[in-house]
Amino acid sequence: MDLLEHTTVLVAGGAGFIGSNFVHRLLAPGRTVRALVLDALTYAGNLENHQALADDPRFHFVKGDIADPAAVAPLVEEADYVVNFAAETHVDRSIEDQSPLIRANIEGPLTLLNAAREHPVRRFIQVGTDEVYGEILGDPVDEEAPLKPRNPYSATKAGGDAMAQAYRATFGLPVVITRCSNNYGPYQYPEKMIPLFTTNAMDDRPLPVYGSGRNRRDWIHVADHCRALEAILTAPADRVEGEILNIAGGNEYDILEIAARILAALGKPESLVQHVTDRPGHDRRYALNASKLRERTGFEPEIDFDTGLLETVSWYASNRTWWERIKSGAFRDYYEKMYGNR
Ligand code: NAD
Ligand code: TYD
Repeated sequence: MDLLEHTTVLVAGGAGFIGSNFVHRLLAPGRTVRALVLDALTYAGNLENHQALADDPRFHFVKGDIADPAAVAPLVEEADYVVNFAAETHVDRSIEDQSPLIRANIEGPLTLLNAAREHPVRRFIQVGTDEVYGEILGDPVDEEAPLKPRNPYSATKAGGDAMAQAYRATFGLPVVITRCSNNYGPYQYPEKMIPLFTTNAMDDRPLPVYGSGRNRRDWIHVADHCRALEAILTAPADRVEGEILNIAGGNEYDILEIAARILAALGKPESLVQHVTDRPGHDRRYALNASKLRERTGFEPEIDFDTGLLETVSWYASNRTWWERIKSGAFRDYYEKMYGNR
């Protein structure tokens, strides 16, 4: 039985990487869900991510800013559920320029939450990140760990996350805050490590490894993340409402290990690895304990990392037009400014 049958889900930021994968999941053949996608189409938003759905009567796209009350109100009014993916998401960009992050990552959730006060919804998920805990050098952390963001991206995400918690406590909104580890998979903007390394390697360009290459992340396939979000959206209220839930893949690797796997998958030489200047304040490791999510919803990730990474590399190989268009446009200017013409 489809627990979202005949409901309307507002997917804010649904033209980005994870949001568009979530839309594909909601609108899988045979489902009766309506997806309202609100997205500002910043450099990271891309309507090609759901081109195949453009004429689907269950799909509705609105270009707009989540921090604009007039854009948000009518959509929240129509929605049964809100899932907010919209954000400025790249740590390196956040180090260069902070102002878009304040608007997207703090004012945005605040505006959506205010609209949900006015027009009640069944559940509101604020999609968050493990980066709010800061770097974790010891045991994986649970939801009680203190927030110690160390870069402007994670600091503003912690702000949006705290605002959602405040609206739960103050106004009783049916909010759930998630904190997920690093995602990989189709439609990820090629400024992030896995698609950047994959697409550079395909063109025999160097893979820019920050510093020692020993910084570690926990990786989850985007399809597993989206499945976790739907499990949270449809769980009984007393299991999840008002809760913070970590979502983790359980696949911890450092940068050099990922680079080596991508090069091996493509049959490219390790000499493409090029150590470059480290990111300022580069968090050494993220590591989450996600047992609360399993206990509350039964969710466990299903996609084995080796299989998921190989499938992802072949997706980028089969969708060269998608990423070439991005890399030859705005992203190229940014990338060349940051790293020169590598
Ligand atoms: P992304 O950068 O690929 O997409 C972000 C989307 O938000 C884009 O479509 C962009 O146009 C849109 N957007 C930005 N500002 C907006 C605004 N003010 N109003 C409306 N739309 C706006 O990001 P992603 O990787 O898909 O991440 C989605 C969410 O998941 C973010 O909240 C991010 O913090 C969180 N998250 C991401 C990861 C990851 O590894 N990618 C891990 C954990 C959590
Ligand atoms: P990224 O994909 O930017 O995600 P986040 O920093 O939000 O976890 O980076 C993942 C890891 O890869 C991180 O340790 C930084 C590193 N990295 C590189 O070594 N080179 C790169 O060009 C990029 C973008 C990231």
